[in-house]
Amino acid sequence: MIGRLNHVAIAVPDLAAAAAQYRDTLGARVGAPQDEPDHGVTVVFIELPNTKIELLHPLGDGSPIAGFLEKNPAGGIHHICYEVEDILAARDRLRAAGARVLGSGEPKIGAHGKPVLFLHPKDFAGCLVELEQA
Ligand code: CO
Repeated sequence: MIGRLNHVAIAVPDLAAAAAQYRDTLGARVGAPQDEPDHGVTVVFIELPNTKIELLHPLGDGSPIAGFLEKNPAGGIHHICYEVEDILAARDRLRAAGARVLGSGEPKIGAHGKPVLFLHPKDFAGCLVELEQA
């Protein structure tokens, strides 16, 4: 059911430092920071030949990654995103298998303008999983 790895999201305490490290030390193609107030994050997109990395930093009050950074002050992998062809069919199949879909269970429009859902990390080996309809 899942297809390509769309992105790996890494929460970082210092967005400028992390972006500079990916650009200068790792030699990656690093974009400019983009504020996404609807998602409570500022994001830096990094294009790799086969996937993307997203550096996430909290934006505003009540950011969904603020708690993660409190527990992981040096930063860390926050979630991984897999592509699916049909997000509602994927949701229904996962629910039938006992997996927990976060929030209302209705897809939201994600950072790339496409419908996304998140799956409970305790159901997936401790990893928060995002599904994006490709
Ligand atoms: Co994501």
